[in-house]
Amino acid sequence: MRLFFCFLLLLGCGAAAAQKINVLTSGTNTSIRGLSVVNDSVLWASGSRGMVAVSVNGGQSFAWKKVKGYEQRDFRDVEAFSASTAIIMAIAEPAVILKTTDGGNSWQKVFEVNTKGMFLDAMDFNGNFGVVIGDPLTNKPYLAATEDSGNHWHPVESEMKIDTGEAFFASSGTNIKLKIDTVERRYEYYAVSGGKFSNLLTNNNKYLLPLQQGEQSKGANSIALNPENNDMIVVGGDFTDDQDTTGNCVLISNGLSVHFSMPHTSPHGYRSCVTFLDKNTALACGTSGVDISTDGGKNWRLISTNSYHVCAKAKKGNSVFLAGKEGRISRLEVQD
Ligand SMILES: *[C@@H]1O[C@H](CO)[C@@H](O)[C@H](O)[C@H]1NC(C)=O
Ligand SMILES: *[C@@H]1O[C@H](CO)[C@@H](O)[C@H](O)[C@H]1NC(C)=O
Repeated sequence: MRLFFCFLLLLGCGAAAAQKINVLTSGTNTSIRGLSVVNDSVLWASGSRGMVAVSVNGGQSFAWKKVKGYEQRDFRDVEAFSASTAIIMAIAEPAVILKTTDGGNSWQKVFEVNTKGMFLDAMDFNGNFGVVIGDPLTNKPYLAATEDSGNHWHPVESEMKIDTGEAFFASSGTNIKLKIDTVERRYEYYAVSGGKFSNLLTNNNKYLLPLQQGEQSKGANSIALNPENNDMIVVGGDFTDDQDTTGNCVLISNGLSVHFSMPHTSPHGYRSCVTFLDKNTALACGTSGVDISTDGGKNWRLISTNSYHVCAKAKKGNSVFLAGKEGRISRLEVQD
């Protein structure tokens, strides 16, 4: 494997930067699915067994917190605003969102829904504006929004109906993205579903995705928005067959109309998270490994066979981190 890799480097990849993944911490008994990187020094991660990790030195060290009163809860998503302020989302029964303003030492409940069947999947923020998406209680996605960084939430009526057996994955907190049109002063969301059907859902449209679907374990897990244009990448696949490379990624151009295309070289298996690093570069990870694309998602190169659930780039800065099972948090290093 290693020889083969060097051979490729000599042949033509030599000019391109090489990527390496450095493990920063591992061995804490939590499965991390929430990751939010404020800047090159501050990052937060959240996971199962009530665990939250925060680093204020770019991942050199982490402070692990077990959220009091929520020791058995699974925090599938986190949104961090600074070294002191963040919110975390616990999925179900009851679905709650907690907020800290003291670096994770104490948490206040800012959202709670006790309805049976309620299951939150992901949050996304754009400045102080945020949305949370949950599985359908009727025939519509559950949506709530905040305008004050998560202090108050109000339900939003979805215009899009979804089918029986169609729902959302809570695998990396990245199946919904929020765009703010500052001129029109309105917000648009892009969410992706899976299960019986896998769709791209927007405020007032729905598009069937050309991805694996039809069963509970299949469909879209994550959507990334290109930072410089309207392109998007969606990843997913079948989490019960995580080496399968069919129907696990679709490229979306969103110009006058929405257009789908498939990659030439797909990511190397089921992927639970995708994120853009710049206009052309994107990173995708899942239980069977990590891939990078330097051509907007057309071709993906496997850079690790280690399992990661979530990856994220600093909101302000260039650092890129990945996280997953057994409390593993790593950093993507680029060597020229
Ligand atoms: C880790 O957590 C799981 C799930 O709660 C538990 O079953 C297991 O015993 C824990 N392992 C250790 C080493 O604490
Ligand atoms: C990151 O944000 C924190 C505020 O939470 C700030 O104190 C720190 O200086 C910032 N670091 C960098 C590298 O921007």
